[in-house]
Amino acid sequence: MDFSVLTIFPELINPFSNLGIIGRSIERDLISVSAINIRDFAKGKHKVTDDRPYGGGCGMVMKPEPLAAAIKAAKKKNPSAITIHLTPQGRPFNQKLAHELLDNKGLILICGRYEGVDERITHNFIDDEISIGDYVLTGGEIAALVIIDAVTRLIPGSLGGIDSADKDSFEDDLLEHGHYTRPKSFMGDEVPEVLLSGNHAEIEKWRLETSLIRTFLKRPDLLKKRQLNTQEINILKKWRSDLKKLTHA
Ligand code: ADE
Repeated sequence: MDFSVLTIFPELINPFSNLGIIGRSIERDLISVSAINIRDFAKGKHKVTDDRPYGGGCGMVMKPEPLAAAIKAAKKKNPSAITIHLTPQGRPFNQKLAHELLDNKGLILICGRYEGVDERITHNFIDDEISIGDYVLTGGEIAALVIIDAVTRLIPGSLGGIDSADKDSFEDDLLEHGHYTRPKSFMGDEVPEVLLSGNHAEIEKWRLETSLIRTFLKRPDLLKKRQLNTQEINILKKWRSDLKKLTHA
């Protein structure tokens, strides 16, 4: 997967690409990340990339010509890549959308700044618009990094463990179970006995239980989307009845 990030702040993108799983995935040739400076495509002595909005009002708008030239250059390098504008007006980004994006050979991620980009860019060059949440950032760069991160870790071979990604929170609309490592006792808080037992069936059962109960308590909206099987319904029923006993004691 090739990620091209079009930005006026390439220095925000490059350090991120060198580290951790993203850095390793680049070394292994699973992905490439290039930050393209929109300013390099601006004309004139001052390389201006923004201008005042027609109709008046506050803020500045990103000029269409440098952006269009930068998109064309990115497309030339990777003609099958799709062009995504990061904007609060876009489709909400989530795990499902990360999987959907994985189907592409490349993503050209357009990072707006100021009030946004000239509408003619949207009309003529943009295949998709994505938002990482209902809040307004000062630019699309952080959103681009979020997408690169979430998509990369779904690429087979990017994570150390073979199957670590399909056990993640949000896969199957469940939050992930809790994790413990050494020491066995920390601040008087002990690792659950079952995790020390070596009994894999019991460990899996505990993991499913904590996963279900956590989702019920923290993100009940996710459980509504999930088709619970009989085992899962029974786990939640038992937990509810244990809780009732405790509260009525
Ligand atoms: N640019 C500014 N805010 C954004 C958001 N919430 N998501 C994606 N891009 C953005």
